[in-house]
Amino acid sequence: MKITILTIFPEMFTPLHESILGRAQKAGLIDIREVDIRSYSKNKHHNTDDAPYGGGAGMVMLAQPIVDAIRDVQGEHFSGKRIYLSPRGRTLTQQMAEELAKEEELILLCGHYEGVDQRALDLCIDEEISIGDYVLTGGELGAMVLVDCVARLIPGVLGCEESAQTESFSSGLLEYPQYTRPRDFEGLTVPEPLLNGNHAHIEDWQISESLYITLRRRPEMAHAWLKGRKFTRHQKKVVDAVFDRIREEDAAQEAPQEE
Ligand SMILES: C[S@@+](CC[C@H](N)C(=O)[O-])C[C@H]1O[C@@H](n2cnc3c(N)ncnc32)[C@H](O)[C@@H]1O
Repeated sequence: MKITILTIFPEMFTPLHESILGRAQKAGLIDIREVDIRSYSKNKHHNTDDAPYGGGAGMVMLAQPIVDAIRDVQGEHFSGKRIYLSPRGRTLTQQMAEELAKEEELILLCGHYEGVDQRALDLCIDEEISIGDYVLTGGELGAMVLVDCVARLIPGVLGCEESAQTESFSSGLLEYPQYTRPRDFEGLTVPEPLLNGNHAHIEDWQISESLYITLRRRPEMAHAWLKGRKFTRHQKKVVDAVFDRIREEDAAQEAPQEE
């Protein structure tokens, strides 16, 4: 997959060239490039912004350098998505990341200041995506988040395909707790089912912990996962035990405390 990021701060993107994504690029699995919008400005001083029509605080990014940069990057036979990172876009989810990971090419536009002249978006953008309900100073961090979560879904990038599938949000439940050596750390021990080597027990423990955490933290997600799902008699016992645990904990919390 080829990803081109249009920005006025290309030097901000070193994190995308390190670690797992850095290795994936060396292995030729993805190609991530930053393009400086400023180099497309036809303005005498290479400006990329101007005051907004209608007044108001802040500056607006000019349409011309953005449109020229996108047209140059996409060439004649572009087959992919052109995305503007924007707080008014559709909020990024794991499902959207999975869809985007199937694209051949992505062009990401990072805004700054008050945003981008609407005409650049009308002419050259397919979709606006937000990374959450808050406002950032620029689209660069948003682009990094999007690239990171999409790139790790590209086959071969993680090296271990299963780990992407069993993680939180992919399986429909949040992830169970993870442990590594030592068995005992400051008196806190690794749960017994993970130590006995019985794969059926390990799986039961993982699913019940996942369901428990999801019911506690994201009940709407847990109920969506449970809805319409067919369980074997054994799986039903595991699920029922999680609900019993929650009921018992809640009852203990509500019970009057002894002096
Ligand atoms: C200060 S913001 C502009 C905010 C805009 N005036 C508004 O009120 O919606 C500057 C740039 O940061 C980026 N940005 C801000 N918040 C974002 C978010 N939640 N998700 C993605 N990009 C965001 C966009 O590219 C935006 O053009």
